[in-house]
Amino acid sequence: MTERLRTACLGAGVIGASWATLFAAAGHEVRLYDPAEGAEEAVNAYTARAWPTLRELGAATAPEPPHFALSASAEDAVAGADFVQESVPERLELKHDLYRRIEPALAPQAVVASSASGLLVREMQEGWRDPARFVLGHPFNPPHLIPLVELLGNERTDPAALDRAQSFYEGCGKQTIRVQKEVPGHVANRLQAALWREAVSLVTDGVASVEDVDKAIWAGPGLRWAAMGPHMLFALGAGEAGMAEFCRRYAPSFRRWWDTLGAPDLDEATVAALSEGVAGEQGARPPQDLMAERDRLIVAMLKASAPVRGR
Ligand SMILES: NC(=O)c1ccc[n+]([C@@H]2O[C@H](COP(=O)([O-])OP(=O)(O)OC[C@H]3O[C@@H](n4cnc5c(N)ncnc54)[C@H](O)[C@@H]3O)[C@@H](O)[C@H]2O)c1
Repeated sequence: MTERLRTACLGAGVIGASWATLFAAAGHEVRLYDPAEGAEEAVNAYTARAWPTLRELGAATAPEPPHFALSASAEDAVAGADFVQESVPERLELKHDLYRRIEPALAPQAVVASSASGLLVREMQEGWRDPARFVLGHPFNPPHLIPLVELLGNERTDPAALDRAQSFYEGCGKQTIRVQKEVPGHVANRLQAALWREAVSLVTDGVASVEDVDKAIWAGPGLRWAAMGPHMLFALGAGEAGMAEFCRRYAPSFRRWWDTLGAPDLDEATVAALSEGVAGEQGARPPQDLMAERDRLIVAMLKASAPVRGR
Protein backbone atom coordinates (compact mmCIF):
# COMPACT_ATOMS: atom_id res chain seq x y z
CA MET A 1 0.00 0.00 0.00
CA THR A 2 1.09 3.57 -0.63
CA GLU A 3 1.92 5.90 2.27
CA ARG A 4 -1.10 6.79 4.41
CA LEU A 5 -1.71 10.51 4.04
CA ARG A 6 -4.02 12.92 5.76
CA THR A 7 -6.51 14.21 3.21
CA ALA A 8 -9.33 16.74 3.33
CA CYS A 9 -12.37 16.89 1.07
CA LEU A 10 -14.10 20.28 0.93
CA GLY A 11 -17.63 19.84 -0.38
CA ALA A 12 -19.32 16.46 -0.02
CA GLY A 13 -21.83 16.59 -2.87
CA VAL A 14 -21.87 14.40 -5.99
CA ILE A 15 -18.11 14.64 -6.53
CA GLY A 16 -16.79 15.26 -3.00
CA ALA A 17 -18.58 12.21 -1.53
CA SER A 18 -17.10 10.01 -4.23
CA TRP A 19 -13.57 11.40 -3.71
CA ALA A 20 -13.86 10.90 0.06
CA THR A 21 -14.92 7.30 -0.50
CA LEU A 22 -12.03 6.66 -2.87
CA PHE A 23 -9.40 8.26 -0.61
CA ALA A 24 -10.64 6.22 2.36
CA ALA A 25 -10.68 3.05 0.26
CA ALA A 26 -7.05 3.72 -0.69
CA GLY A 27 -6.21 3.77 3.03
CA HIS A 28 -5.87 7.52 3.58
CA GLU A 29 -7.23 9.46 6.51
CA VAL A 30 -10.12 11.65 5.31
CA ARG A 31 -11.50 14.82 6.85
CA LEU A 32 -14.60 16.33 5.33
CA TYR A 33 -16.28 19.69 5.43
CA ASP A 34 -19.65 20.59 3.92
CA PRO A 35 -21.99 23.17 5.50
CA ALA A 36 -25.21 21.71 4.02
CA GLU A 37 -27.78 20.30 6.39
CA GLY A 38 -27.84 16.50 6.16
CA ALA A 39 -24.43 16.37 4.43
CA GLU A 40 -22.98 13.94 6.99
CA GLU A 41 -25.81 11.41 6.55
CA ALA A 42 -25.68 11.82 2.78
CA VAL A 43 -21.95 11.22 2.48
CA ASN A 44 -22.04 8.19 4.78
CA ALA A 45 -24.96 6.74 2.82
CA TYR A 46 -23.02 7.32 -0.42
CA THR A 47 -19.92 5.60 0.95
CA ALA A 48 -21.94 2.64 2.24
CA ARG A 49 -23.48 2.19 -1.23
CA ALA A 50 -20.17 2.54 -3.08
CA TRP A 51 -18.05 0.37 -0.77
CA PRO A 52 -19.16 -3.09 -2.02
CA THR A 53 -18.24 -2.06 -5.58
CA LEU A 54 -14.83 -0.84 -4.47
CA ARG A 55 -14.35 -4.13 -2.62
CA GLU A 56 -15.36 -6.02 -5.76
CA LEU A 57 -12.78 -4.06 -7.75
CA GLY A 58 -10.12 -4.73 -5.14
CA ALA A 59 -9.82 -0.96 -4.56
CA ALA A 60 -10.92 -1.05 -0.89
CA THR A 61 -8.92 -3.15 1.50
CA ALA A 62 -11.04 -2.63 4.63
CA PRO A 63 -14.14 -4.87 4.70
CA GLU A 64 -16.42 -2.19 6.16
CA PRO A 65 -16.87 1.39 4.92
CA PRO A 66 -15.62 4.19 7.16
CA HIS A 67 -18.04 6.40 9.05
CA PHE A 68 -17.23 10.06 8.45
CA ALA A 69 -17.88 12.78 11.02
CA LEU A 70 -17.80 16.20 9.38
CA SER A 71 -15.29 18.79 10.55
CA ALA A 72 -16.65 21.96 12.12
CA SER A 73 -15.10 24.22 9.46
CA ALA A 74 -13.03 24.10 6.29
CA GLU A 75 -10.06 25.43 8.27
CA ASP A 76 -10.38 22.52 10.73
CA ALA A 77 -10.66 19.99 7.94
CA VAL A 78 -7.48 21.13 6.17
CA ALA A 79 -5.32 21.57 9.31
CA GLY A 80 -2.38 19.17 8.98
CA ALA A 81 -3.65 17.73 5.67
CA ASP A 82 -1.15 16.62 3.02
CA PHE A 83 -3.69 16.66 0.21
CA VAL A 84 -6.87 18.74 -0.08
CA GLN A 85 -9.52 18.12 -2.75
CA GLU A 86 -11.92 21.04 -3.25
CA SER A 87 -15.30 20.06 -4.75
CA VAL A 88 -17.59 22.96 -3.84
CA PRO A 89 -20.13 24.29 -6.38
CA GLU A 90 -18.80 25.73 -9.62
CA ARG A 91 -19.04 29.40 -8.61
CA LEU A 92 -15.87 31.44 -8.67
CA GLU A 93 -16.71 33.70 -5.72
CA LEU A 94 -17.50 30.65 -3.57
CA LYS A 95 -14.20 28.98 -4.45
CA HIS A 96 -12.24 32.24 -3.87
CA ASP A 97 -13.86 32.72 -0.48
CA LEU A 98 -13.00 29.16 0.54
CA TYR A 99 -9.36 29.46 -0.64
CA ARG A 100 -8.94 32.71 1.32
CA ARG A 101 -10.21 30.99 4.45
CA ILE A 102 -8.14 27.81 4.19
CA GLU A 103 -4.84 29.24 2.93
CA PRO A 104 -3.58 30.40 6.38
CA ALA A 105 -4.56 27.03 7.92
CA LEU A 106 -2.68 24.84 5.42
CA ALA A 107 0.32 22.75 6.41
CA PRO A 108 3.54 23.66 4.55
CA GLN A 109 3.46 20.44 2.51
CA ALA A 110 -0.22 20.63 1.55
CA VAL A 111 -1.29 20.41 -2.08
CA VAL A 112 -4.78 21.72 -2.91
CA ALA A 113 -6.57 20.37 -5.97
CA SER A 114 -9.83 21.69 -7.40
CA SER A 115 -12.33 19.40 -9.13
CA ALA A 116 -13.63 22.31 -11.24
CA SER A 117 -15.02 21.33 -14.64
CA GLY A 118 -15.54 24.70 -16.21
CA LEU A 119 -13.48 27.33 -14.37
CA LEU A 120 -9.96 28.15 -15.48
CA VAL A 121 -7.00 27.68 -13.12
CA ARG A 122 -5.92 31.30 -13.64
CA GLU A 123 -9.36 32.48 -12.52
CA MET A 124 -9.30 30.28 -9.41
CA GLN A 125 -5.73 31.39 -8.58
CA GLU A 126 -7.08 34.89 -7.89
CA GLY A 127 -8.40 33.61 -4.57
CA TRP A 128 -4.86 32.79 -3.38
CA ARG A 129 -2.14 34.92 -1.86
CA ASP A 130 0.34 32.34 -3.17
CA PRO A 131 -1.21 29.83 -5.60
CA ALA A 132 1.96 27.71 -6.03
CA ARG A 133 0.44 24.70 -4.26
CA PHE A 134 -2.90 24.94 -6.06
CA VAL A 135 -3.63 22.62 -9.01
CA LEU A 136 -6.56 21.38 -11.02
CA GLY A 137 -7.40 17.71 -10.38
CA HIS A 138 -10.45 17.21 -12.56
CA PRO A 139 -12.24 13.86 -12.24
CA PHE A 140 -14.96 12.12 -14.19
CA ASN A 141 -18.12 11.30 -12.34
CA PRO A 142 -18.02 9.16 -10.26
CA PRO A 143 -14.36 9.65 -9.34
CA HIS A 144 -14.26 6.45 -7.29
CA LEU A 145 -14.98 4.44 -10.47
CA ILE A 146 -13.80 6.33 -13.55
CA PRO A 147 -10.00 6.23 -13.68
CA LEU A 148 -9.22 9.55 -15.43
CA VAL A 149 -7.96 12.63 -13.57
CA GLU A 150 -6.88 15.69 -15.60
CA LEU A 151 -4.04 17.63 -13.99
CA LEU A 152 -3.27 21.22 -14.81
CA GLY A 153 -1.13 24.01 -13.47
CA ASN A 154 0.47 27.07 -15.07
CA GLU A 155 3.48 29.33 -14.62
CA ARG A 156 2.32 30.27 -11.11
CA THR A 157 2.12 26.59 -10.06
CA ASP A 158 5.00 24.82 -8.32
CA PRO A 159 5.79 21.83 -10.61
CA ALA A 160 6.41 19.76 -7.46
CA ALA A 161 2.75 20.28 -6.46
CA LEU A 162 1.65 18.76 -9.78
CA ASP A 163 4.06 15.85 -9.30
CA ARG A 164 2.74 15.24 -5.78
CA ALA A 165 -0.88 15.40 -6.97
CA GLN A 166 -0.07 12.95 -9.74
CA SER A 167 1.53 10.43 -7.42
CA PHE A 168 -1.29 10.84 -4.90
CA TYR A 169 -4.01 10.14 -7.51
CA GLU A 170 -2.05 7.29 -9.04
CA GLY A 171 -1.61 5.80 -5.58
CA CYS A 172 -5.42 5.82 -5.36
CA GLY A 173 -5.56 3.84 -8.62
CA LYS A 174 -6.34 6.76 -10.95
CA GLN A 175 -4.98 7.38 -14.46
CA THR A 176 -3.69 10.94 -14.81
CA ILE A 177 -3.03 13.17 -17.77
CA ARG A 178 -1.28 16.56 -17.84
CA VAL A 179 -3.16 19.35 -19.58
CA GLN A 180 -0.40 21.62 -20.96
CA LYS A 181 -2.48 24.67 -21.79
CA GLU A 182 -5.69 26.14 -20.37
CA VAL A 183 -8.69 25.74 -22.61
CA PRO A 184 -12.35 25.61 -21.55
CA GLY A 185 -13.38 22.02 -20.77
CA HIS A 186 -9.78 20.76 -20.37
CA VAL A 187 -9.26 17.70 -22.65
CA ALA A 188 -11.84 14.97 -22.07
CA ASN A 189 -14.92 17.21 -21.93
CA ARG A 190 -13.84 18.87 -25.18
CA LEU A 191 -13.56 15.43 -26.77
CA GLN A 192 -17.03 14.55 -25.48
CA ALA A 193 -18.38 17.87 -26.75
CA ALA A 194 -16.88 17.31 -30.22
CA LEU A 195 -18.44 13.87 -30.49
CA TRP A 196 -21.79 14.97 -29.09
CA ARG A 197 -21.90 17.90 -31.52
CA GLU A 198 -21.87 15.46 -34.43
CA ALA A 199 -24.18 13.00 -32.64
CA VAL A 200 -26.80 15.75 -32.26
CA SER A 201 -26.33 16.86 -35.83
CA LEU A 202 -26.82 13.32 -37.16
CA VAL A 203 -30.16 13.21 -35.31
CA THR A 204 -31.41 16.66 -36.35
CA ASP A 205 -30.30 16.07 -39.97
CA GLY A 206 -32.33 12.84 -39.97
CA VAL A 207 -29.31 10.61 -40.65
CA ALA A 208 -30.08 8.25 -37.75
CA SER A 209 -32.30 8.02 -34.69
CA VAL A 210 -31.10 8.89 -31.17
CA GLU A 211 -31.10 5.19 -30.31
CA ASP A 212 -29.08 4.23 -33.37
CA VAL A 213 -26.53 7.01 -32.88
CA ASP A 214 -26.08 5.79 -29.30
CA LYS A 215 -25.73 2.20 -30.47
CA ALA A 216 -23.24 3.26 -33.14
CA ILE A 217 -20.97 4.36 -30.28
CA TRP A 218 -21.45 1.74 -27.57
CA ALA A 219 -21.47 -1.23 -29.94
CA GLY A 220 -18.78 0.24 -32.21
CA PRO A 221 -15.87 2.59 -31.58
CA GLY A 222 -16.87 3.16 -27.94
CA LEU A 223 -15.78 -0.34 -27.09
CA ARG A 224 -12.42 0.18 -28.77
CA TRP A 225 -12.00 3.59 -27.09
CA ALA A 226 -12.35 1.89 -23.71
CA ALA A 227 -9.30 -0.15 -24.72
CA MET A 228 -7.10 2.47 -26.43
CA GLY A 229 -7.29 6.05 -27.64
CA PRO A 230 -8.19 7.19 -31.16
CA HIS A 231 -4.63 7.94 -32.31
CA MET A 232 -3.26 4.55 -31.37
CA LEU A 233 -6.29 2.74 -32.75
CA PHE A 234 -5.98 4.50 -36.10
CA ALA A 235 -2.23 3.85 -36.19
CA LEU A 236 -3.01 0.17 -35.67
CA GLY A 237 -5.62 0.51 -38.42
CA ALA A 238 -2.76 0.65 -40.93
CA GLY A 239 -1.22 -2.49 -39.44
CA GLU A 240 2.57 -2.59 -39.33
CA ALA A 241 2.78 0.56 -41.46
CA GLY A 242 1.53 2.76 -38.61
CA MET A 243 0.26 6.32 -38.28
CA ALA A 244 1.88 8.00 -41.26
CA GLU A 245 0.54 5.36 -43.60
CA PHE A 246 -2.94 5.58 -41.99
CA CYS A 247 -2.96 9.35 -42.60
CA ARG A 248 -1.72 8.90 -46.19
CA ARG A 249 -4.43 6.35 -46.93
CA TYR A 250 -7.33 8.05 -45.21
CA ALA A 251 -6.61 11.81 -45.30
CA PRO A 252 -8.95 12.40 -48.26
CA SER A 253 -11.82 10.60 -46.47
CA PHE A 254 -11.26 12.47 -43.21
CA ARG A 255 -11.03 15.83 -45.02
CA ARG A 256 -14.35 15.11 -46.71
CA TRP A 257 -15.97 14.09 -43.41
CA TRP A 258 -14.49 17.03 -41.47
CA ASP A 259 -15.74 19.41 -44.14
CA THR A 260 -19.32 18.17 -43.68
CA LEU A 261 -19.50 17.88 -39.86
CA GLY A 262 -22.51 19.58 -38.34
CA ALA A 263 -22.70 22.62 -36.04
CA PRO A 264 -26.03 22.18 -34.25
CA ASP A 265 -27.47 24.38 -31.53
CA LEU A 266 -29.32 23.12 -28.46
CA ASP A 267 -32.40 25.16 -29.37
CA GLU A 268 -35.94 24.24 -28.40
CA ALA A 269 -36.62 22.06 -31.44
CA THR A 270 -33.33 20.17 -31.02
CA VAL A 271 -33.91 19.58 -27.31
CA ALA A 272 -37.41 18.29 -28.10
CA ALA A 273 -36.06 15.91 -30.77
CA LEU A 274 -33.35 14.60 -28.44
CA SER A 275 -35.78 14.20 -25.52
CA GLU A 276 -38.23 12.30 -27.70
CA GLY A 277 -35.46 10.05 -29.01
CA VAL A 278 -34.13 9.28 -25.53
CA ALA A 279 -37.66 8.53 -24.29
CA GLY A 280 -38.03 6.01 -27.12
CA GLU A 281 -34.65 4.46 -26.38
CA GLN A 282 -35.48 4.25 -22.67
CA GLY A 283 -38.92 2.70 -23.18
CA ALA A 284 -40.49 1.59 -19.90
CA ARG A 285 -37.16 1.30 -18.07
CA PRO A 286 -36.93 3.80 -15.19
CA PRO A 287 -33.77 5.96 -15.07
CA GLN A 288 -32.73 4.27 -11.79
CA ASP A 289 -32.60 0.91 -13.60
CA LEU A 290 -30.58 2.40 -16.43
CA MET A 291 -28.14 4.01 -13.99
CA ALA A 292 -27.69 0.68 -12.21
CA GLU A 293 -27.13 -1.05 -15.57
CA ARG A 294 -24.58 1.63 -16.58
CA ASP A 295 -22.70 1.15 -13.31
CA ARG A 296 -22.77 -2.67 -13.57
CA LEU A 297 -21.34 -2.46 -17.09
CA ILE A 298 -18.60 -0.02 -16.04
CA VAL A 299 -17.63 -2.22 -13.09
CA ALA A 300 -17.67 -5.34 -15.29
CA MET A 301 -15.40 -3.65 -17.86
CA LEU A 302 -13.02 -2.35 -15.19
CA LYS A 303 -12.84 -5.79 -13.59
CA ALA A 304 -12.31 -7.60 -16.86
CA SER A 305 -9.68 -5.18 -18.15
CA ALA A 306 -7.59 -4.92 -14.94
CA PRO A 307 -5.67 -8.21 -15.41
CA VAL A 308 -5.06 -7.42 -19.10
CA ARG A 309 -3.73 -3.94 -18.29
CA GLY A 310 -1.75 -5.36 -15.40
CA ARG A 311 -3.39 -3.09 -12.81
N1 LIG B 1 -21.02 16.57 -11.18
C1 LIG B 1 -20.10 16.24 -12.10
O1 LIG B 1 -20.36 15.42 -13.01
C2 LIG B 1 -18.72 16.83 -12.02
C3 LIG B 1 -17.67 16.16 -12.68
C4 LIG B 1 -16.37 16.66 -12.54
C5 LIG B 1 -16.13 17.81 -11.79
N2 LIG B 1 -17.18 18.44 -11.18
C6 LIG B 1 -16.86 19.65 -10.38
O2 LIG B 1 -16.90 19.31 -9.01
C7 LIG B 1 -17.29 20.45 -8.23
C8 LIG B 1 -18.46 20.06 -7.34
O3 LIG B 1 -19.54 19.64 -8.15
P1 LIG B 1 -20.70 18.69 -7.62
O4 LIG B 1 -21.38 18.16 -8.84
O5 LIG B 1 -20.15 17.74 -6.59
O6 LIG B 1 -21.63 19.76 -6.89
P2 LIG B 1 -22.70 19.50 -5.70
O7 LIG B 1 -23.59 20.68 -5.71
O8 LIG B 1 -23.28 18.12 -5.82
O9 LIG B 1 -21.80 19.51 -4.37
C9 LIG B 1 -21.18 20.65 -3.88
C10 LIG B 1 -21.17 20.54 -2.37
O10 LIG B 1 -20.38 21.61 -1.85
C11 LIG B 1 -21.01 22.06 -0.65
N3 LIG B 1 -20.53 23.40 -0.32
C12 LIG B 1 -21.06 24.59 -0.65
N4 LIG B 1 -20.29 25.57 -0.14
C13 LIG B 1 -19.26 24.99 0.52
C14 LIG B 1 -18.14 25.48 1.26
N5 LIG B 1 -17.91 26.78 1.40
N6 LIG B 1 -17.29 24.58 1.82
C15 LIG B 1 -17.48 23.24 1.68
N7 LIG B 1 -18.54 22.73 1.00
C16 LIG B 1 -19.39 23.60 0.41
C17 LIG B 1 -22.49 21.96 -0.94
O11 LIG B 1 -23.24 21.92 0.27
C18 LIG B 1 -22.57 20.66 -1.74
O12 LIG B 1 -22.81 19.54 -0.91
C19 LIG B 1 -17.61 21.56 -9.24
O13 LIG B 1 -16.51 22.42 -9.37
C20 LIG B 1 -17.85 20.79 -10.52
O14 LIG B 1 -17.56 21.53 -11.68
C21 LIG B 1 -18.46 17.97 -11.25
